[in-house]
Amino acid sequence: KLEEASALDNVPSEAIYRFPLELVHGIPLMKPIINRWQEVEQFQARPDDLLIATYPKAGTTWMQEIVDLILQDGDLEKAMRAPSHIRFPFMEFVTPTLPSGVEVLTKMPSPRLIKTHLPYQLVPTSFWNQNCKVIYVARNAKDNAVSFYWFDKMNKAQPDPGTWESYVEAFLQGKVGWGSWFDHVIGWWEAKDKHRILYMLYEDIKEDPKREILKVMRFLGKELSEEVLEKVVHHTSFQAMKENPMTNYSTVPSFMFDRATSMFMRKGEVGDWVNHFTDSQSKAYDKVYNEKMRGTGLKFRSLI
Ligand code: A3P
Repeated sequence: KLEEASALDNVPSEAIYRFPLELVHGIPLMKPIINRWQEVEQFQARPDDLLIATYPKAGTTWMQEIVDLILQDGDLEKAMRAPSHIRFPFMEFVTPTLPSGVEVLTKMPSPRLIKTHLPYQLVPTSFWNQNCKVIYVARNAKDNAVSFYWFDKMNKAQPDPGTWESYVEAFLQGKVGWGSWFDHVIGWWEAKDKHRILYMLYEDIKEDPKREILKVMRFLGKELSEEVLEKVVHHTSFQAMKENPMTNYSTVPSFMFDRATSMFMRKGEVGDWVNHFTDSQSKAYDKVYNEKMRGTGLKFRSLI
């Protein structure tokens, strides 16, 4: 049963606490993940797996809900069969006590929906051998950093982000979980034409959800009526997902997600970074952004 796979009940709270980061192939990841890295490397993808890949806090849960509702023909009740993290097991997830993402996925019947935050070069090669479909979502660096900062503060499994000042610096240098935002979004961008990868932008979905959901629908090979499409748009709005217990992570115990600090569905906006970045922090970002993005053809809005 899917539900049994990630039961967080009966897990002592000290078992999930501020895991430190270590490097695997040069990428910082939480220590429990690194301890069992071989399992991830040897993961066996199946041809009908669908992988949703993102840098953390780029809109993973949003895309998961869009995908599931498309697959369920807009039927909210079906999409509400289990919380998001059960419907889309997190491949590299490892804690000392819970079943790992790989363990859960190995037992899961096909077709599987899978979530990962891994940079392209760390994705198990079986996904490419099996020619799996992948949907990648990227979000502009500044909003992504703000969202990640608040998430690190509220999620007790994540390393402590420290002050905003120190966090901005660490994020810019790629010294946070899953490494450099720049390398992540560029790595996947450069890989997109080599495999069946749909590259989506958070800001585009926000601007015109219907237009972007149609792209996902076509990529999945689904035909939906106008009425069903409208339902998918409606059920995946920020407000609807904030109120939906199967998408707002309210089922995760409070010793892990400290909701007094921040909600998982925090703001869901484009441009919230202006409320966090000082002028000099913003300029430091723009400088690195311009250097790294030059010649890639990849462009984000809401940066300047
Ligand atoms: P904020 O912290 O800026 O609010 P992820 O799922 O990758 O962890 O990303 C979480 C971020 O996506 C959070 O950003 C969350 O609010 C936002 N998000 C989730 N669902 C959304 C939706 N339906 N519309 C817009 N943003 C959404």
